[in-house]
Amino acid sequence: MENPIDELHTLGDFIRWGMSQFNKAQLFFGHGTDNALDEAIILVSHALHLPPQVPDILWQTRLTYAEKQKVLELFNQRVQQRIPAPYLTYEAWFANLRFYVDQRVLIPRSPMAEWIERRFEPWIEPRRVKRMLDLCTGSGCIAIASAMLAFPYAKIDAADVSNKALEVAQKNIKNYGLEQRVHTVYSDLFGSLSGQHYDLIVCNPPYADPKEIAAMPDEYNYEPRIGLEAGKDGLFFIKQILQQAAQYLTHDGVLIVEVGLSQDNLVEDYPNVPFTWLEFQHGGEGVFLLTADQLRLYFSSELVNGEEGCRDFLQSSL
Ligand SMILES: C[S@@+](CC[C@H](N)C(=O)[O-])C[C@H]1O[C@@H](n2cnc3c(N)ncnc32)[C@H](O)[C@@H]1O
Repeated sequence: MENPIDELHTLGDFIRWGMSQFNKAQLFFGHGTDNALDEAIILVSHALHLPPQVPDILWQTRLTYAEKQKVLELFNQRVQQRIPAPYLTYEAWFANLRFYVDQRVLIPRSPMAEWIERRFEPWIEPRRVKRMLDLCTGSGCIAIASAMLAFPYAKIDAADVSNKALEVAQKNIKNYGLEQRVHTVYSDLFGSLSGQHYDLIVCNPPYADPKEIAAMPDEYNYEPRIGLEAGKDGLFFIKQILQQAAQYLTHDGVLIVEVGLSQDNLVEDYPNVPFTWLEFQHGGEGVFLLTADQLRLYFSSELVNGEEGCRDFLQSSL
């Protein structure tokens, strides 16, 4: 990347130049933005301690030499190393809420944010949700957004098998002052949750198959593999969740799981299961809902792949 430090002067100059460099380098966008302009704005505003919605009046203002160096360093890391912007700014947005992120967690981007903002209505009666589980919580974004926006009186467990992820979730819970209502739990799927019963279980598990992993742009290499890989058909975790979830739901409980592109494999393997596929107004797909009744009817309580199998799989991902 060239060094145009003496030729660029204003905030607008840097945003325009960054945008051109990002397009030229054919970066992948999808970790928080979907285009080069927004990506450049995010990095410039972060370096200059400005809000991401930079007021128009500032576009013509000049940067100091030190500020220019800071912006160019971020651009350089984004273009040369392909580090996703949220790992450079240490923040990501989910359901219009700000989350601390670093490379210990996947960057929040689940389309479920939309359904959390809609409080999952009419599928869920929000006031009846007293206990919720966010399984595979990562940064804690689903648990925290649900606590903030959908279920103000619910107690929420945020479970993950990665202690590093749980440290980040804990930091986000503290940032939102939710320590009394949202608790992190170390758990290999439902392994540490015996005896618990939830009105709602929401889960965004790893669900990428090897073909998907191989096709992922370089940016994904910075995300923890344990958050992405899910066996040969992408269903390694999802099948266990289906087998076990009923035991951890209240009688009228509901399970909501994101399966992404593994939707096709899932439907092929379970042609008789009446999955309800949630529809999205702002883009997204691959999220199903099943009631506890349906889970009891279609899935036996016996484990298909026991916890041992799950741990074996994890050894290779950790
Ligand atoms: C796709 S990420 C989702 C993170 C977050 N919920 C979100 O939506 O951004 C999947 C998460 O599942 C966790 N995970 C992987 N295997 C697990 C297991 N066996 N039990 C619990 N969590 C697991 C990973 O550590 C990762 O944080």
